[in-house]
Amino acid sequence: MSQQDPLQLCKDLLIQIDQELDQNAESLRIKYLGKNGLFKNVSALIKNVPNEQKKAFGQELNQLKNKLENKIADLESQQKQTKEKIDLTLPGKKHQVGHIHPISQAIEEISQIFEKIGFNRVRYPEVDWDYYVFEALNMPKNHPARDEWETFFVDTQPDPKMGKMVMTTHTSNGQVREMERLKSKPPIRMINVARTYRRQSDATHTQMFHQFEGLVIDKGINIQHLKGTLDYFAESFYGPGTKSRIRPFHFKFTEPSFEVDFSCHICGGTGKNCRFCKSGWHEVGGAGMVHPNVLKAGGIDPDIYTGFAFGWGVERTYTLKKGLNIDDIRLFYSGNLEFLEQF
Ligand code: DAH
Repeated sequence: MSQQDPLQLCKDLLIQIDQELDQNAESLRIKYLGKNGLFKNVSALIKNVPNEQKKAFGQELNQLKNKLENKIADLESQQKQTKEKIDLTLPGKKHQVGHIHPISQAIEEISQIFEKIGFNRVRYPEVDWDYYVFEALNMPKNHPARDEWETFFVDTQPDPKMGKMVMTTHTSNGQVREMERLKSKPPIRMINVARTYRRQSDATHTQMFHQFEGLVIDKGINIQHLKGTLDYFAESFYGPGTKSRIRPFHFKFTEPSFEVDFSCHICGGTGKNCRFCKSGWHEVGGAGMVHPNVLKAGGIDPDIYTGFAFGWGVERTYTLKKGLNIDDIRLFYSGNLEFLEQF
């Protein structure tokens, strides 16, 4: 070793360790930096270095030592990590398991409640013709009642018979479609759940929301059947003791028409000092007896058959559930995991 150029030896040492980095860090430390290690041998050569080169050699040695130290330290930390990765005694890491969106959960629950009493879950287009959304529902073209539905129109060629294409403003477009699907032959018991769209956005409205629509048509259907269905839903969805109430209202596609309220679960419907409802009741949506013109549009004879219908927003219905108290339904569509993971 003493015959060789000490500086060259320093360089060789670094090249050599680079080729051995797959070895155990501890044995490399002994081999290179140990008491009888290679670094020691190279350092000993300082005595052979001419005086004027000793300083430079000393600096070279220091650098070499640092480099060797760093390489071995890196290797040690790498090997430590790998060791940790395969430590079979460590407890397993739990996978983050997601769940279906709260509104999908609500839709599932609502559908099951109605399926239990013989309703048939259907789906109809969410982009539909003006005919199904308005005209067949007894709202002729240019009728002012249409203004209540803040409609998005689709920028396409209107159909000569069906009119313009619209983003469905309500799930009531499924009514005449269902009558047509069943070839105008009752009994009909439909529950149509779908996305609906309106030009409005604030704490209680999102431009896209969901509705569910019930439609029952048969011989001898009357308001008591509607009221019984509402009571059944109120108790099933909100819990025993929840009551429904219908108040006179006006929709073009039902006659008579009602607004539907459910009793408040916080004050039990009394409204006394209740900040949640103020009146004892929460309004949820509309309902009524299907208008004869709507039955006719679906090819059903209103002298033989009668029916009831109802339609509500899923988000609104859901936020009134006990313990939820969500006052801004936009949160459901915010993508905020902290909010969504609570459900
Ligand atoms: N479609 C109505 C709305 O979006 C709600 C509604 C009212 C649906 C009465 C019905 C009904 O089926 O009978 O405001």
